[in-house]
Amino acid sequence: MASPKHFLDLSAVSSSDLRLIMEDAKSRKQATKAGTADKPLAGKMLAMIFEKPSTRTRVSFDVGMRQLGGETLFLSGTEMQLGRAETIGDTAKVLSRYVDAIMIRTTDHSRLLEMAEHATVPVINALTDSTHPCQIMADVMTFEEHRGPIKGKTLAWTGDGNNVLHSLVEGSARFGYRMNMAVPLGSEPDDRFMNWARNNGGEVMLCHDAERAVDGADAVITDTWISMNQEHKARGHNVFQPFQVNGPLMKRASADALFMHCLPAHRGEEVTDDVIDGPQSVVFDEAENRLHAQKAILAWCLGAI
Ligand code: CP
Ligand code: NVA
Repeated sequence: MASPKHFLDLSAVSSSDLRLIMEDAKSRKQATKAGTADKPLAGKMLAMIFEKPSTRTRVSFDVGMRQLGGETLFLSGTEMQLGRAETIGDTAKVLSRYVDAIMIRTTDHSRLLEMAEHATVPVINALTDSTHPCQIMADVMTFEEHRGPIKGKTLAWTGDGNNVLHSLVEGSARFGYRMNMAVPLGSEPDDRFMNWARNNGGEVMLCHDAERAVDGADAVITDTWISMNQEHKARGHNVFQPFQVNGPLMKRASADALFMHCLPAHRGEEVTDDVIDGPQSVVFDEAENRLHAQKAILAWCLGAI
């Protein structure tokens, strides 16, 4: 039996397949708005496992699967036997007998990989402690809707070196944008992602100076200073304050730079209200595009594109 088409990370899917998914997402969005969308996943069931909280991911996968004609099962990790130490591998084998695809938001990345190893249906990464690839699909889609092809553009990250940044770093190699990043000393992204990107044609620049990262950039991106399940790594706000996206920092970017944030935002911490509510902000477009990007991911995983 051919192995299932998992969506685990941007590094695990080819550039051409990611571009196929991206263009499918854009056309699915248009078709949905025009009321002409097809239902290629009629009769299919998606299991959605959450071992962490979620608003956007939960709702957009649920609505997206229904828009594709399929159905969903919401499974809270703590209410499953998974929460009482049944293994991920056994859970994967059991769920594969019931459903057509599994989406999981979990803690350690190894749990996602174990799920994929044992599942006989596609597994989708809905965020781990290490990466968040669905978010970057929506972000690239949003950038391109506003500014055209992202290839050759410069994105700037300022803040914590977290899961969202890791997927952005992988995306630099897959989509051809330059990734500038500024993080506090000691909050750097994992070298594995930096090395993978560099070895695969990504242009990535890491520094500890927000102004340097943002200078002339086409988009400025940030995220929470404390990610879920990373509370033990929390550092004082003073450490992150120089990396806040505020009016003066946005002025260092290109005049038409976009402001992006995966949400939820911690207003007054990583971003000020005037920026997130300002004319350059596209944060709610990003949230909306999670829906369409993930419909394309589901369609790709289940052989409908
Ligand atoms: N951006 C994102 O993944 O949001 P949720 O945590 O609400 O799913
Ligand atoms: N980096 C954040 C993203 C939330 C969508 C977290 O992992 O909590």
